[in-house]
Amino acid sequence: MGKDMKTDMEPIPSPHKRVGNFLIKVFGSALLLAFSYRLLFSDPTGFFVFSSFPASEMPAPKGGNLQRDSPSMENTVAPYTRLPQMALHLRKGDSLKEQCDLFSGEWIPNSSGPRYTNSSCSYIDPYQDCLTNGRPDRGYLYWRWKPYGCDLPPFDAEKFLKAMRNKSLAFIGDSIFRNQIESLLCLLSQVEEAVEIYHDETFQSKTWYFSSHNFTLALIWAPFLLKAELKDSGNSNDYIQLHLDALDDTWTSQYGKHDYIVMSGGQWFLKTTIFWENSTIIGCHNCPGKNFRELGMDYSYQKALELAFRFITASHHKPLVVLRTWTPDHFEYGEWYNGGVCNRTEPYKEGEFSGDPVDPMMRGLEIEEFEKAATIGSENGTRLKLLDSYHLSLLRPDGHPGPYRKLHPDISKRPQNDCLHWCLPGPIDTWNNLLMEIVLNDGGQRYSS
Ligand SMILES: *[C@@H]1O[C@H](CO)[C@@H](O)[C@H](O)[C@H]1NC(C)=O
Ligand SMILES: *[C@@H]1O[C@H](CO)[C@@H](O)[C@H](O)[C@H]1NC(C)=O
Ligand SMILES: *[C@@H]1O[C@H](CO)[C@@H](O)[C@H](O)[C@H]1NC(C)=O
Ligand SMILES: *[C@@H]1O[C@H](CO)[C@@H](O)[C@H](O)[C@H]1NC(C)=O
Ligand SMILES: *[C@@H]1O[C@H](CO)[C@@H](O)[C@H](O)[C@H]1NC(C)=O
Ligand SMILES: *[C@@H]1O[C@H](CO)[C@@H](O)[C@H](O)[C@H]1NC(C)=O
Ligand SMILES: *[C@@H]1O[C@H](CO)[C@@H](O)[C@H](O)[C@H]1NC(C)=O
Repeated sequence: MGKDMKTDMEPIPSPHKRVGNFLIKVFGSALLLAFSYRLLFSDPTGFFVFSSFPASEMPAPKGGNLQRDSPSMENTVAPYTRLPQMALHLRKGDSLKEQCDLFSGEWIPNSSGPRYTNSSCSYIDPYQDCLTNGRPDRGYLYWRWKPYGCDLPPFDAEKFLKAMRNKSLAFIGDSIFRNQIESLLCLLSQVEEAVEIYHDETFQSKTWYFSSHNFTLALIWAPFLLKAELKDSGNSNDYIQLHLDALDDTWTSQYGKHDYIVMSGGQWFLKTTIFWENSTIIGCHNCPGKNFRELGMDYSYQKALELAFRFITASHHKPLVVLRTWTPDHFEYGEWYNGGVCNRTEPYKEGEFSGDPVDPMMRGLEIEEFEKAATIGSENGTRLKLLDSYHLSLLRPDGHPGPYRKLHPDISKRPQNDCLHWCLPGPIDTWNNLLMEIVLNDGGQRYSS
């Protein structure tokens, strides 16, 4: 495959999540949670800080799952908060002409099944190829996202590629985008197979070209959006150095080339990171034993989004920019590193699961920064849209590889479950369905609330 293990490695999760969960259980109050975040994360004593784990052991995800350990918490955790109506306008000719919030709805059974399989698509990463890796249940493939009040039209590869003629689209972020872009390549392969025309030396950034449509699709690896020195040697002293005042030029240098940008942050913000500003260390996230101020992952993520949007709104180049929201994980019965699993075979129903408190917090930051940028951008010709996949993804604990990621080459090591990435085919295909709607409805319209 030309792809080394490194590409499958993911962040060290935040031990603070567990701390947060523990305290919630003790005090049982969402209100306390809201107010205690800063406090917890700036605990100078290190009392609440657990040791970190070598990056080399990481298949993926952060851990932590409040609901399973503590079902009684369901009502105390702030539920999914609806957006200030992010309405999308359906295309002319669609049955419903009025506005419809595509991100608010339910998963309903549908016998049609996926639009591609492990046998018909060659772009699926072995780690997410659940069918080939022997996942026995198939029920998770037979659900369709149904927004309240309208239908989400099925993915139309021909229409999408036609709209993308002579265009270039880039996904900017981490391995969740690799997951999403492989889904898109599979969906589009029904009409045209893309050819890979570029990869960086680590195979993390890649570019594909659809020659019959003169369409370029790029995956740009920038897990923090910010400038970062990532040392992934497995030595826990090699913390990530994150520059809160500088963007990652892996993406900013490419920004002017693309007509469409889809971006997001993710689980990398949960890792142990040292924060720099003005060439000075100003604090850290999760750095026990170091004499730095704990500022929290929300601190760096807010900075990342703010700086990225400032760059975007100030840029003379005006692509359509789509912010994809936070992707939740679904570890149960433990964390990612101590036997956590995701063995459900059906979606959750609305209200049944509200996720780890970190998830709505990170998504909340995204919405806040998005709205700030949209206000500035609307005076400026900057087109910003939200692909709010968070809530519909939260309802899909059944969509992850779990143990059906590739077996660890060293059989003495038990393969860790992956409850963060998504099986292909799987629920992540719906993200592209929604992306298609956003892109096809982009008649130069601006964000409006
Ligand atoms: C399944 O979904 C498709 C659209 O994606 C729809 O046309 C079809 O009627 C649905 N089938 C059932 C049985 O609901
Ligand atoms: C797809 O998965 C099935 C098992 O679900 C397996 O029999 C088949 O060989 C796989 N196809 C490919 C091309 O790997
Ligand atoms: C492909 O698209 C680019 C950018 O829009 C354009 O400059 C170029 O002429 C197109 N090439 C072909 C072969 O259509
Ligand atoms: C794509 O680019 C080619 C070459 O510049 C041009 O002839 C064609 O009209 C363009 N098509 C679209 C849909 O823009
Ligand atoms: C960084 O430098 C700028 C300009 O010199 C200053 O305004 C800002 O307060 C400094 N930030 C920190 C954290 O020192
Ligand atoms: C609006 O965009 C222009 C460039 O097109 C830029 O010079 C200006 O700073 C932007 N305004 C804001 C508020 O970012
Ligand atoms: C899921 O895994 C847990 C922990 O191993 C186990 O107790 C439970 O029975 C499993 N559920 C199903 C449906 O297999």
